[in-house]
Amino acid sequence: MNLNIALLPGDGIGPEVTQQAVKILDAIAEKHGHTFKYTEALVGAIAIDKTGNPLPDETLKICSEADAILFGAIGDSKYDNNPNIKIRPEQGLLQLRKKLGLYANIRPVITYESLIHKSNLKEHVINGVDIVIYRELTGGIYFGEKNISSDGLSASDTCNYSAEEIDRISHLAFKAAKARRKKLTLVDKSNVLATSKLWRNRVIEISNHYPNVDLSFLYADNAAMQLILKPTQFDVILTENMIGDILSDEASVISGSIGLLASASVGTKTALFEPVHGSFPKAKGKNMANPLAAILSAALLLEHFELFEEAESIRIAVEKSIELNITTPDLNSTNHFSTTNVGTFISDFILDDENTFYNKNNIDLGQSTII
Ligand code: IPM
Ligand code: MN
Repeated sequence: MNLNIALLPGDGIGPEVTQQAVKILDAIAEKHGHTFKYTEALVGAIAIDKTGNPLPDETLKICSEADAILFGAIGDSKYDNNPNIKIRPEQGLLQLRKKLGLYANIRPVITYESLIHKSNLKEHVINGVDIVIYRELTGGIYFGEKNISSDGLSASDTCNYSAEEIDRISHLAFKAAKARRKKLTLVDKSNVLATSKLWRNRVIEISNHYPNVDLSFLYADNAAMQLILKPTQFDVILTENMIGDILSDEASVISGSIGLLASASVGTKTALFEPVHGSFPKAKGKNMANPLAAILSAALLLEHFELFEEAESIRIAVEKSIELNITTPDLNSTNHFSTTNVGTFISDFILDDENTFYNKNNIDLGQSTII
């Protein structure tokens, strides 16, 4: 298969982790005879620095013409303590989502056997968790009208949803549930918000098309608690934009690190694949960021094009790296490996059919993974 991939490394650790994802895609291309071409483009703080615009026209053009987009991260600490700055890196990502119609953000959350004992949560609570969050991505309070009064003493954010916006992602979520364990939980605040009432009404109506899917409802506050109390109760979680943003960070604790969570954003045009974590400016350039979320996002990209075997071989290699403790400091405080080491191990593991190349002694010594 030939794929033209728009590469948007962005800010902070974005370039480092994206580079590892590309290394893995190149290994897959070599092994399976595919051709992946990359066109790099600017987004976020680096784009503001170079062009004054967090999403330059050129970037949007490259993305629109690509088969898929691989995204790193955006955000820079120089913007964090000044909420009044008008042009912000985040606008690049939000505009890209909106302009490409990426209305569904899909965030899988699973546990890895070899990480379970390291979790902040009890083993029996997280054992066997397999959740996928369907977060609406182009509507709600993120995109409603925003105002700050001229005296600077009051402000408002409007939350809008149309039936159409709710229906299209709901169908995707129901289809996913149908192919999985047939459970869908809608998370909202329908005891308070009008938009949530609309979500419930539409989702109840849509559920009639999926009689084998068991539909349940949770208020967002209760869902936040249940996610930590008994995460195995969930299969597919469907929710609006901001609740989905918050719950997915919370859910990352179940996996062991936000450095493990990948996501796919799909919609009407080119799909985008990005790690859930942010730009982690403190780790920038230190070769210590966890590349697994970016690498697993590349696996979701391949799956999007029905390259299931290829995606699975990435997941197996990632699991192997975790099992052998070839992981970055967020997962491995005592004997950790660098971002590039982890990427190289995974790439070599994919390319080595016999899986004989790695040297257990070297790994234990924290040295090279390669003989
Ligand atoms: C995410 C991020 C973004 C969001 C930020 C960077 C705008 O937190 O993708 O989850 O809030 O959607
Ligand atoms: Mn977020």
